[in-house]
Amino acid sequence: MNRREFLKGTAWMGLAASAAGCNGFRIPGSGAGGKMAFYADKPIRKLRVGVIGLRRGMVGVRSFASIPGCEVRAMCDLYHVNFIRAKKVLDKAGVKYKPREYTGPEDWKKICDADDIDLVYNATPWQLHVPIALYAMRAGKHVVTEVPSAFTVDECWELVETSESLERHCMMLENCCYGEIEMLALNLCRKGMFGELVHGEGAYIHDLRQYHYGDWLEDSPGWDYKQKHHAYWDYWRLRHNMVHKGNQYPTHGLGPVCQYMNINRGDRFDYLVSLESDQFGFESYAKSKYPADHWKSKKKVAMGDMNTTLLRTALGRSIMIQHDVSSPRPYSRINTISGTKGILTDYPYRVGWEEKPGIGVHRFFADAKAEEIRKTHMHPLWKQAGDLAKRMGGHGGMDFLMVLRLAYCLQNGLPLDQNVYDLASWSCLAELTEKSVRNNSAPQSVPDFTRGGWKTTPPLGIEGVDMTKLGMVGA
Ligand SMILES: NC(=O)c1ccc[n+]([C@@H]2O[C@H](COP(=O)([O-])OP(=O)(O)OC[C@H]3O[C@@H](n4cnc5c(N)ncnc54)[C@H](O)[C@@H]3O)[C@@H](O)[C@H]2O)c1
Repeated sequence: MNRREFLKGTAWMGLAASAAGCNGFRIPGSGAGGKMAFYADKPIRKLRVGVIGLRRGMVGVRSFASIPGCEVRAMCDLYHVNFIRAKKVLDKAGVKYKPREYTGPEDWKKICDADDIDLVYNATPWQLHVPIALYAMRAGKHVVTEVPSAFTVDECWELVETSESLERHCMMLENCCYGEIEMLALNLCRKGMFGELVHGEGAYIHDLRQYHYGDWLEDSPGWDYKQKHHAYWDYWRLRHNMVHKGNQYPTHGLGPVCQYMNINRGDRFDYLVSLESDQFGFESYAKSKYPADHWKSKKKVAMGDMNTTLLRTALGRSIMIQHDVSSPRPYSRINTISGTKGILTDYPYRVGWEEKPGIGVHRFFADAKAEEIRKTHMHPLWKQAGDLAKRMGGHGGMDFLMVLRLAYCLQNGLPLDQNVYDLASWSCLAELTEKSVRNNSAPQSVPDFTRGGWKTTPPLGIEGVDMTKLGMVGA
């Protein structure tokens, strides 16, 4: 769907202008820590975005180009080929403007410093996440960053303190919180269908060996940008995983479970323990693909294949998360939530709850009933924009819904669904799981980045988008 069709196909657009008119405001904070959970900037009616990193960042380009009231003003990447792809995406969306293009390795600073940018969309390799986020906030910009947004506890504190002191949004782009089954589960949790929540499970199990070891652009003369599989830029992920243990990518499975359980909004992580297998998969893959004297065959990888981490919360709940990107297994985020009355699990989606108190759930509901539940209890955001999101693409639509909600909140001066405390408490697991693994699974306390604010921050609501308040084009 191009931008024109997007506008035409939505009756709500005509009403959009009438929704304008509120002045900047701030919702009072909790008084303790955690003020960014309540923070809202004045409505940014025309949201001007700078996108840095044009591989994963193409999600941002495509979505902002199509959402009314948003404009991609500038883009930054090191490779011309990625601008060709971006231009195709913008042309398809029917945009009339031409974003500025930056190609130098430090040109992202120009985007952060630009007067005509409100939001920096950071989809770069991991090592650039924190430097860009800090620089963007110090330049007065709101910033959103790909997952995980930081890798150490210190980095997380620096992001929290910078966000709080400068009152700039600093959000992690955890798209899995917007998955259809994740949002269905959130809705069912809020309706109490599983009773009191007790245990959650999440994962990132995704065979990424070819992305770690395949030839990246500069090793692939004649590489065609339409080619689907290529390695990460400069092998950034392989380099990181060569030296780190623990769960370095914890947030896809964890984020949704945290939203079900109100982590940072009524509960919080207390401590974790983490255990992992040795490394077998990456190294045997490299040896099977490259000659024995090739650097890829010779390099050791520190990260074990399967990491399993257990978290306990302040209210006594438990969460299990797993990470495995180097084994030949089908993709799974597990996505399980269970409580005193029932359970939802995913991959594949199944659900069940006690139809009479105490009778138990010995089998999941039949497929037809599960499907009826999926339709009946579909999250309002999916009801409102799910079909459109599926057409826009991006992990089955969740990528678009994440950007849609982000744009909607910024355009309407609302707090964001995921705040800097979520970013910090979910991302810091990279360091804490590594510490635990390297110390025979010793428990690690998880800092309270809200400094007590979790006790008074209300749970995330069941938030959709009021289509009449989206897209203040021309305002
Ligand atoms: N949420 C998700 O579902 C999801 C999916 C894929 C990737 N990601 C995340 O997105 C980020 C990027 O991953 P990717 O798969 O696009 O990696 P990639 O290696 O395919 O692409 C990275 C891009 O960044 C560019 N880049 C590198 N240094 C730069 C610099 N100094 N200035 C500007 N651009 C620079 C490269 O040219 C490249 O085009 C990572 O953090 C990754 O974890 C998230």
